[in-house]
Amino acid sequence: MVKVNVAPFDKSTEIEKGSTVLDALNILNIPIEVICGGKGTCGKCKVIITDQSTVSPITEVEERLLSDNELCEHVRLACLVKVLEETSVFVPELSLQRELRILSKGQTIDVELDPAVKKVNLLLPRPVLGDHVSFEELIVSGLGLEGGTIDYNAIKGISETIKRSKFDVDVTFVNNTVVSVTPRFDPNSMYGLAMDIGSTTVVVYLMDLNTGKMVDVESMLNPQIKYGEDVISRITYAIQYTVDEVHETLINGVNSMIKELCRRNNIEPSSIAEMTVVGNTAMHHIFLRIDPRSISLSPFTPTITKSMDVRARDLGICINPSGNIHMLPVIAGFVGADTMGVLLATEIYHHDEMAMAIDVGTNGELVLGNKDKMVSCSCAAGPALEGGELMFGMRASPGAIEDIKIDRLTLEPEYKTIKKKLPVGICGSGIIDAVAEMLKVGIVDKTGKMIDVGTERIRKSTSNGQLEYVLEWAENTGVGKDVVITAGDIREVQLAKGAIYAGASLLLKKLGMKPEDLDKLYLAGAFGNYIDVENAVVMGLLPDMPLDRIKSVGNAAGEGAKLSLLSRRKRDEENKVSRMVEYLELASHADFQDVFVEALNFPEFVCNHK
Ligand code: FES
Repeated sequence: MVKVNVAPFDKSTEIEKGSTVLDALNILNIPIEVICGGKGTCGKCKVIITDQSTVSPITEVEERLLSDNELCEHVRLACLVKVLEETSVFVPELSLQRELRILSKGQTIDVELDPAVKKVNLLLPRPVLGDHVSFEELIVSGLGLEGGTIDYNAIKGISETIKRSKFDVDVTFVNNTVVSVTPRFDPNSMYGLAMDIGSTTVVVYLMDLNTGKMVDVESMLNPQIKYGEDVISRITYAIQYTVDEVHETLINGVNSMIKELCRRNNIEPSSIAEMTVVGNTAMHHIFLRIDPRSISLSPFTPTITKSMDVRARDLGICINPSGNIHMLPVIAGFVGADTMGVLLATEIYHHDEMAMAIDVGTNGELVLGNKDKMVSCSCAAGPALEGGELMFGMRASPGAIEDIKIDRLTLEPEYKTIKKKLPVGICGSGIIDAVAEMLKVGIVDKTGKMIDVGTERIRKSTSNGQLEYVLEWAENTGVGKDVVITAGDIREVQLAKGAIYAGASLLLKKLGMKPEDLDKLYLAGAFGNYIDVENAVVMGLLPDMPLDRIKSVGNAAGEGAKLSLLSRRKRDEENKVSRMVEYLELASHADFQDVFVEALNFPEFVCNHK
C-alpha cells in the first residue's frame, strides 16, 4: 500500500501501489470533475503532482490533452496517473465539481387529490374469549380492504400498539397493504416523496398527502457522476465491476437527501409511506439493482417496462420500511420513466391537438402524438448540448457563459454568466446562443464551417490550426486563458442538433406530418428551460414552427412523479399510456442516415443574414 496526501484538503489515504490518483480521491470523497468517468478522454480531472518520481510517467494521452504550460507546471490527469510510492497531490479549484444550477420547478396540471396512500382511524372491537380472531383480521376487515394484508414489518409490534392505544389506532395503507399502525392522533402528518433521477441531477420533492402541497424539495448532483457523466459510462462500470456498487452509491445519495428533508421539516422518516420514482431507463434499472447491461446492447431490451412496486426496505430507502416505492413505467430501452412523467404532466394523450415533447440530455427523448396515437424515439445527442466535449464546455454552474449576443457590425460578443462570476466555460444554453449568433453574423456558414470574416477574435488555433472564435480574453476570465469556441465545438453541436432534428423529423414523417402541423412543442428538462427558443429554431435544433406554440415545461418528469403520488387516476393512466406509445428505433430506421446527414446543415436562410 502507498500513501496519498491531498491538498488543499489536508486529507490522506492509502491505496494499492499502481492504483490511480482518482482512486484515492474517490476514497476520500473529493468531488473532482470526471466527465468521461475516468476513461482518460475528457481531460477534466487535472491535479498537480510536484514530485513526478513518485508516480507513473506522463502518458501519450496526457501529452495530447494537456498544454505545454500545464505539463511544465506538473499538471497530470488523476485518472491516468498511477501512484508508485507515497505522493502529494494538489487539486486545483477548477478541477472540482461545481455547484450546479438544478431545475426543480415544472409546469403541471391540477388533479383531484386521491393518493394511493390512505390513513384512517379505526376503533377496533375488543376480542373476547372464543372469538378466534387475530388483530390482523380485525384491522383488515375494519378497513374493508379486499385481499388486504399487513406488511411483515408493520405487523410485528401491532399487538402492543393496539393495547396501549386502547384499540383506537390510525392505520396507514398503500393500495391494499397496511404499512403502519400507530396510536390515534399520531401527530405526524401523512407524507410522500416524488423523485426524478436524472443522469446529472437527482431531485426529491416532499409532499404533504393530506393537502397535496409540496412541503420542500432537495436536489443533488447524481453521486454516480464519479463513474462517468453519461449513462453508458455508468452501465459500463456496472458491467465491469458490479451493479451493486453503482446502485448503492445512488441509494446512499437519495437517503442523505431524505434525511435532510426530514430534519429540515421536523418529520419522522417512518411517516413517509410512499415514494414515486421517474428516471431514464438506465437510472431506473440501477435504482432497482437490476443489471442494466441489456439496455446498452442491441436490441436494447429493458428488463421490465411496466410500473413496479417495491418495499422501501428491499431497496434500503430510509422511509417507512414497509412503505411503497412506486416506479413509473418505462417506454423503451432509451425512453424511460422520465418521459412517462413528462406525458403525465402534459397530458398529450388526452387531447386532439398534435403535440411533441422533447427532453434533451446526452440522450434526447421525443414523443409525438395525441389521444389517438403516440410515437417516441430516442436520439444520441451526445454531451455537447449540456456543455460536455467542448473545448470550454461545462455544466450550468457559476461562471458558465449563457445568453450570448454578437454585434452584427463589430462582431464583439456580449454575454452573461451564471451567478455573474468571471467566465470559466460555456454551458448548453450558451453554446446554442453562440452558434445561432455566429450563424446570424456569418462567422459560421450553413455547412458549419467557420469563416475568417476579419476580426481579431477569429484566429487559428495553435494546437491544430483550425479557426476559433474568442469569446473572452484571458485577462477577463476566471481560468487565466482565452475562452474560445472552436471549429471542433461547432461540429459537436452539429452532430447533436442533427440527431435531435432527425429524430423529430422521422417522428413527424411516421405520422404523416410537417413541422407546421404541430400544435404544441413542449420542451422538458433543464435544457429546454434555459435555452433561447428562437435561437434553437434559428440553428435548426428544433422544428421550424411559430414560437408561440413552443413551451418550456421545466422539470415535467418530476411533476409527473408528483402526479403519480397524488392521484390514483393518474397512476392508473400510466401503464395504459405507456402501452399506447409506439417506439421508433432510429438506429435501424432505413431513412435515419440520410435524414441525419441532411439535418447536420444549419438552416440556409440564416447564412444570408449577414
Ligand atoms: S480524463 Fe480523467 S476523468 Fe476524464
